[in-house]
Amino acid sequence: QAQGDAEAGKAKAATCVACHGNDGNSPTDMYPKIAGQHASYLEKQLIEFKTGATGGAGRANAIMAPMVMGLSAQDMADLAAFYASEAITPVATPEEVIEAGAALYRGGDLERGITACIACHSPRGEGLESARFPRLSGQHPAYIKAQLLAFRSGERENDPNGMMRDIAKKLTDQDIEILSQYVAGL
Ligand code: HEM
Ligand code: HEM
Repeated sequence: QAQGDAEAGKAKAATCVACHGNDGNSPTDMYPKIAGQHASYLEKQLIEFKTGATGGAGRANAIMAPMVMGLSAQDMADLAAFYASEAITPVATPEEVIEAGAALYRGGDLERGITACIACHSPRGEGLESARFPRLSGQHPAYIKAQLLAFRSGERENDPNGMMRDIAKKLTDQDIEILSQYVAGL
C-alpha cells in the first residue's frame, strides 16, 4: 500500500469539498463526514468504490464512482491521510435512545446472535486503525442508518469478511433507528 501524505492530499481534495466540506465535516447529512476517520478505512473505501464502479466486488455507488475513477493508488492514500488528520465534529445522542442503544452496542444480543458493536467499534465508537474498523462517533445518524440498511439488504458488499452483513441481517428497523442515533453521539 502507498504511504499517504496529508499535505499532498489536501491539495487533491478540491473536488471533494462540494459534498464533504472543507475539512471532511460535511455540512448536511446527505453526505457522510470523513474527517477524523481512520486512513486505513478511508483508503479501503476509495479503492472499493473504484472496484465497485468497474464491475468488481466493491462498493457500487453512483455518486462516488466518478469521483474515484481518475484517482491513482497514491492519490487515494494521500486523500485518506488528509481527512484522517482533520478532527470530526461531535454529535449529541438523544436522551431517549441511550438505554436501549447502550444495551445493544455494549452487550449485543445473545438470543438473537448479535455480536456487540463495541467489540470492533470500541467503547467510544472510535474504531481501530490497524483493523480498518471505522470510527462511528460524530457521524451523521442518517448516514449510519443508511449504511446499516445497505449492509442488511446486501447492497453494500465490499466488506470481504461479511462481518457487518451478518450482524445487520439480524437488526430490526427499530434497532437500526436506535443504534444510528446512539453511536453518533458516543
Ligand atoms: C462516501 C471520499 C467526493 C458524495 C465517501 C466515502 C469516502 C469519500 C471515503 C466513504 C465514507 C465512509 O465509508 O464512511 C471522497 C473523496 C472525494 C469525494 C476523497 C473527492 C475525491 C464526493 C463528492 C460527492 C460525494 C463530490 C457528491 C457529489 C458521497 C456520498 C457518499 C460518499 C453520497 C456515501 C455513499 C454511500 O451512501 O455509500 N466519500 N468523496 N463525495 N461520498 Fe464522497
Ligand atoms: C462498518 C455499525 C458491529 C466491523 C460499519 C458501519 C456502520 C457500522 C454504521 C459503516 C461505517 C461507515 O460507512 O462509515 C455497526 C453497529 C454494530 C456493528 C451498529 C453493532 C450492531 C460490528 C462488529 C464488527 C464490525 C461486531 C466486527 C466483527 C465493521 C467493519 C466495517 C464496519 C470491518 C467496515 C466495513 C468495510 O470496510 O466496508 N459498522 N457495526 N462491526 N463494521 Fe460495524
